[in-house]
Amino acid sequence: MLKKEIENLIEGATGKKAIVETPDNFSYGDFSTNVAIREKLNAQEVVDKLKASPLFEKIKVINGFINFFLKPEYFLENLKQILKQKEKYGSSSIGKGKTIVIDYSAPNIAKPFGIGHLRSTIIGQAIYNLYKFLGYKTIGDNHLGDWGTQFGKLIYKLKTQNSKLTALTVEDLEKLYVEFHKEAEQNPALNDEARAWFKKLEQGDKKAKEIWQACKEISLKEFDRIYNLLGVKIDNVLGESFYQDKMQDIFEEMKKKNLTKQNEGAWVVEFENNVLPSLVLMKSDGATTYFLRDLATIKYRLKKWKPDIIAYEVGVDQSLHFKQLFKTIEMLGWAKNVCFEHIVHGLMRSKNGKFSTRKGDTIHLEYVLQEAISKASDLIREKPAESPVGNQAGKGKNELAKQIGIGAVKYNDLSQHHSRDIVFDWDKIINLKGNSGPYLQYAFARTQSVLEKANGNRVAVSSKIDFNELGEIEKTLLKKLLHFSEIIEQATKTFSPNLICNYIFDLAQSFNLFYNEVPILKADTKEQKEFRLALTFAVGQIIKNGLTLLGIESPNKM
Ligand code: ARG
Repeated sequence: MLKKEIENLIEGATGKKAIVETPDNFSYGDFSTNVAIREKLNAQEVVDKLKASPLFEKIKVINGFINFFLKPEYFLENLKQILKQKEKYGSSSIGKGKTIVIDYSAPNIAKPFGIGHLRSTIIGQAIYNLYKFLGYKTIGDNHLGDWGTQFGKLIYKLKTQNSKLTALTVEDLEKLYVEFHKEAEQNPALNDEARAWFKKLEQGDKKAKEIWQACKEISLKEFDRIYNLLGVKIDNVLGESFYQDKMQDIFEEMKKKNLTKQNEGAWVVEFENNVLPSLVLMKSDGATTYFLRDLATIKYRLKKWKPDIIAYEVGVDQSLHFKQLFKTIEMLGWAKNVCFEHIVHGLMRSKNGKFSTRKGDTIHLEYVLQEAISKASDLIREKPAESPVGNQAGKGKNELAKQIGIGAVKYNDLSQHHSRDIVFDWDKIINLKGNSGPYLQYAFARTQSVLEKANGNRVAVSSKIDFNELGEIEKTLLKKLLHFSEIIEQATKTFSPNLICNYIFDLAQSFNLFYNEVPILKADTKEQKEFRLALTFAVGQIIKNGLTLLGIESPNKM
């Protein structure tokens, strides 16, 4: 990649590590670096050493920054590469031989699939796709919350009510859960009952297991409906319960290594100099904890997949948990060469504080997604005149509404840095204007409609095309196309799919300007027409490749 190549060149010439960036404004060059300022080098001397490289047309110093202008043939060559590599363009094998485990989605049995789990699913899936695109062996693992004291509460309620298990829905389960909490406020002894039931479950009690299994099935049915709507399928679903028989060994190892000690009956983990607050590893009645299960999960993953990276896409409210977890792994000395990463997501807020769901105060994600689809179908109905929108009826239309609605929800989630709180505002999400999923899908459909109208015409870069004779709008578009691969790499390394959103949004805007200002099918010469069609094709391809990585579909017509 060019950026890396230039960084290496600078290092070769100066002995200093440089960071090369892409300026926002191409009049400042195609790449630039602040290495001279940072390393107190004479910028002109650096330029003199690099001048001979065949990469550059010119190198200019502006305010101490070194700005590189590439030879134009690179832009034209890149365009040809897009035409050739199509959906593979932007992929690479830099991850070859490396393995990443991505822990994402992880909803909890007998509780609603929440907005936080939606964020985790969408962001986690995009990161999964990115790593795969760069050649990593990628393993998705849905760490379902299907074990823990909360099941004691549920089993207690179901036992005392003698409800018919098969007739229950997730909503019933939630209700029971809420009821339990209300009752336990009046009568705290119920908590002991619940604890006793969880203990029975952990000891393999038949009745308890039966109830737990039934709850799990009820929830999984609902989760599957949501995954289907989202078009997400996670490689592994090893819930917390999978680690039932694997925790004792870990607990023993923690004791043997002196990493846990008893305090008022419970087993706790303390950190040297109290760098982190202490935590409970095992409760006084012998019940296991979320933390212990996570330790067992890591042990299992290390052995099974030998990963280089284990990344967790989980809400910011669990930051402390993951700090403690990673620190404990360090103390255990299990994985010196493995990188552990907590990819935090912020909260999702609704514009007016609350989500418009027709049901009570818990957010029912399925309704939110259905609403997205129904709003998308209104959007298609109100399609603007003079648009690449084909008239579609029936099944095609429903499918399209789903692609747009779900894509819009995903884009809203991905277009800002994952750690930020985001606002859920239907007017922005389902909108053909602005930085939205539908805007990008629309831009893609526009490229396809131009190409369709051009049928019979070649899409090609003739040797008669001279970069210097192109108009500014074409030059800019061509230059922007060069940066897709870098963006992909950067987005992957920093777990930031939002970089892809920013990039394709910017590209789509440039394309729309080109579409409005530059005649494509009515170009003066045959070569010009072929070239503009090639640009159109390339922009469409890049938007599509970007959206695909984000887990968003690109319908040909809207
Ligand atoms: N089920 C958990 C929750 O909803 C998230 C699990 C995240 N993954 C993990 N390995 N701890 O809060």
